[in-house]
Amino acid sequence: AWTMEEFIGKEIARIREICGNTGRVIGAVSGGVDSTVAAKLMHEAIGDRFHAVMVDNGVLRQGEGAQVNEMLSTDLGVNLTIVDASDLFLSRLEGVEDPEQKRKIIGNTFINVFEAEAAKLEKAEAEKGKIEWLLQGTLYPDVIESISFKGPSATIKTHHNVGGLLKDMKLKLIEPLRELFKDEVRALGRLLSIPAPLVQRHPFPGPGLAIRILGPVTRPQVKLLQQADAIYLEEVRAAGLYDRISQAFAVLLPVHAVGVMGDQRTYEQVIALRAVQSEDFMTADWFVFPPEVLRRISSRITNEIAGINRVTYDITSKPPGTVEWL
Ligand code: XMP
Repeated sequence: AWTMEEFIGKEIARIREICGNTGRVIGAVSGGVDSTVAAKLMHEAIGDRFHAVMVDNGVLRQGEGAQVNEMLSTDLGVNLTIVDASDLFLSRLEGVEDPEQKRKIIGNTFINVFEAEAAKLEKAEAEKGKIEWLLQGTLYPDVIESISFKGPSATIKTHHNVGGLLKDMKLKLIEPLRELFKDEVRALGRLLSIPAPLVQRHPFPGPGLAIRILGPVTRPQVKLLQQADAIYLEEVRAAGLYDRISQAFAVLLPVHAVGVMGDQRTYEQVIALRAVQSEDFMTADWFVFPPEVLRRISSRITNEIAGINRVTYDITSKPPGTVEWL
């Protein structure tokens, strides 16, 4: 048996040994639990020789970049660069509806942007030496899955991975969380003083809002979904339900429905709300909300967002549905 305090000490020592006195490490952060905990651990181990890069792919949640900057850089002191590549991502996504195509474009563009940023960082601080290592927040279940690849989920949706980065950049991989389960990463995060709301965060997919916009991804569509998603999560939190739900998010449907506002007929888009409870996301049950919470969410979304006149709630379990709509 080991304690998490012992784990931290051992892992920091291991990282220092691997990186030596000059080795530099780069890692992508997303604002999620795993990459944040991994980044904070690297910072504890080697300080500013660790560079965190956040890529704004144009399909993040509302205010995500600013939040990550405040938490990781201002509060936790991690060396962070945020790259706004939203124009590039959105131009490559133009007109694309197929979800696998969206995933591929986002995955490949991510690699392009990250590589360019790594090269830039290295050049800007050439006197500090080469960047040799890539940090990844891989957990034990990911290690197992990539060895045995049994679950149907792996073949149904191609999850974004950064294998390409290792090949192209000849970086060596450093994975401080590779022996931990999700619960243990959360416990580790608490010990590393990562704020509770972040440690408890629901998972958010790499391709972000692009797979929650059912039609083509455009800036106005992203904006609509960001607004609906922000209201939804704000109300879920206010009702004290966030920690009882495994994942909650809004989906923007590419259809227009008829509605009424004053004595005007409206013809606007539809938001679907999804909330599930799940142990491992291989199966999931839809969450039973108190009716008054749904009522408040629906009323706020339709009143506050021009362009949405109807809200539905998804009552499909997994299987046969998946958690995401795409
Ligand atoms: P599904 O929709 O397959 O989702 O039931 C199961 C879990 O996986 C997440 N998910 C993704 N995560 N890239 C990710 O990083 C993806 O392309 C992706 N697709 C689904 C989903 O949010 C849920 O937690």
